Amino acid sequence: MTMLTSRAPVDVGTSAPDFVLTDGAGRSVALTDFRGQPVIIAFYPPEWDPSRADQLTHFNWLVRQVPGVNAELLGISMDGMWCQLAFAGDAVRVPLLADLDPQGAVAERYGVRGGQALFVVDAAGTIAWRHVDPSGSAPNTSELLAALSALATPTPESQAARFATLATDAVPLAPCAQPRDEHDPLLVPTRREFVTTALAAALALAAAPLMAKAEPVTDRLAAPLGPEIAPASVTLRVNGHPVSMTIEPRVTLLDALREYAGLTGTKKGCDHGQCGACTVHVNGRRELSCLTFAVMHQGDEITTVEGLATADTLHPMQAAFITHDGFQCGYCTPGQLMSATALLMEPCGPTDADVKECMSGNICRCGAYPGIVAAIQDVRATRRG
Ligand code: FES
Ligand code: FES
Repeated sequence: MTMLTSRAPVDVGTSAPDFVLTDGAGRSVALTDFRGQPVIIAFYPPEWDPSRADQLTHFNWLVRQVPGVNAELLGISMDGMWCQLAFAGDAVRVPLLADLDPQGAVAERYGVRGGQALFVVDAAGTIAWRHVDPSGSAPNTSELLAALSALATPTPESQAARFATLATDAVPLAPCAQPRDEHDPLLVPTRREFVTTALAAALALAAAPLMAKAEPVTDRLAAPLGPEIAPASVTLRVNGHPVSMTIEPRVTLLDALREYAGLTGTKKGCDHGQCGACTVHVNGRRELSCLTFAVMHQGDEITTVEGLATADTLHPMQAAFITHDGFQCGYCTPGQLMSATALLMEPCGPTDADVKECMSGNICRCGAYPGIVAAIQDVRATRRG
């Protein structure tokens, strides 16, 4: 993915360029309409990719999880087809604005035309945080949460909770901190103690300017990765069985399946929605499990690669992958299989080129693509009879 703009992305601390764009209902939406509340602006490049709809849904859910932040998410696309799909309610059900007049003009003003980027704009209209990556990677969720929580307005309840924590964290007075008896002969320092103490003091004085600049290691280790959010209970139906878990709301479906349900067949490749290794079926449709939170799937029917075979019988697609050498190291194979089996139920064209297009979200670093395409075409031919 390459940026089509020669401008540098607008900087944190500068005013967010204003815009007026049209939403799916034909309404004009201006950035200034949201003055007084934070806005998250997600820019998307021209090429349609189903994973972007998942990302927008993910961000939309995420911004509502940070207490004290009444933020609005605005997706901006310069892809006419995607806008049409989204406006028809087929692809994405979050606010999406069409940047088509002329195409990409608003993205150009932000210096991100043709690329994927996320800007957090504070209530005063200043850019508070941004994620701009020409390679198209999604932002780190913890960083985004931290940026949002920095904009949170403290509520009386959150302040009371904070003071309560400080009170219980108070360190009791240590016995050695009791008042000292100046006349106690046992407290007179020995010569060795005196020299050691004097040396330590001299070293401390010499190092003081450096230490003043240094970030204490313990502070870094103790620093939270993001705001504390209460655990939530969720029950998924995984491969036909109910699986209940109590997890942090930020746990992805991928991590929930692997770490909580113990189903490690679903693989974590990029964890950013780019490789397809984590593909599972959600209510019969393929979805990238690294881009969606488990708590969003209460009661949903999840199928993982472990659920494809029945008893001792492989799914025909699994058998065809073996017949056609559709894998080498096998790391991408669970995701390939889940996409390939979903493809059987999708309106994918008949040619090899169509299959490659429909499977383009699944990367294979071993280059087993010819075998994968052959396996899929084999199963499709068998089904057509
Ligand atoms: S797309 Fe989810 S791990 Fe790569
Ligand atoms: S078989 Fe190795 S990554 Fe696909």
